[in-house]
Amino acid sequence: MKRILCALMIGLLIPAALAEEKTAEQMVAAKKRADMTYRQLMEIMGTASAMIHQGIIRENKQMVVQGADMITNHPAPNHQPWIIVPEEDRASFKQTLLAFDKILDDQTARVATAAGSADWQGAARAAQELTSACIACHAQWKHKVK
Ligand code: HEC
Repeated sequence: MKRILCALMIGLLIPAALAEEKTAEQMVAAKKRADMTYRQLMEIMGTASAMIHQGIIRENKQMVVQGADMITNHPAPNHQPWIIVPEEDRASFKQTLLAFDKILDDQTARVATAAGSADWQGAARAAQELTSACIACHAQWKHKVK
């Protein structure tokens, strides 16, 4: 009985773990690689976010669009992003990376669209939601970095 259960669990869990790794790895592989660490990438994210906010205040569409583009089309770091957290947290961090990749894409698209049509209040609201997404991941992960 134990053996059957064990085989069943291995049969179910290993493919799930492999599928998950592949998906996170595919996401990273689809991006251009840049010679920088995950933290350096985050510094760029911070600059991009500042550009978005400055652009909205100045009503400078191009500044907002370029800031949004830096986030949407950000390159991958020169290491697998999940190595920054302890081994036991990596599967979970991969899921977070996958989820937030899509969330950031959606939010930056909304910011850029609103700014593109000079809807500055709408752009400000969308930028606030984008910032909330950044903060949500930080709340969960920033202190777990090795
Ligand atoms: C998938 C999770 C995640 C998302 C989403 C995310 N961050 Fe981060 N961010 C991190 C982690 C983890 C660190 C800590 C990295 C380290 O210490 O090496 C960090 C650190 C930072 C830092 C500080 C870098 C430093 O030198 O301490 C800035 C600035 C930053 N993020 C900006 C942003 C902005 C802006 C966004 C949204 C556009 C964002 N991040 C979205 C996970 C995330």
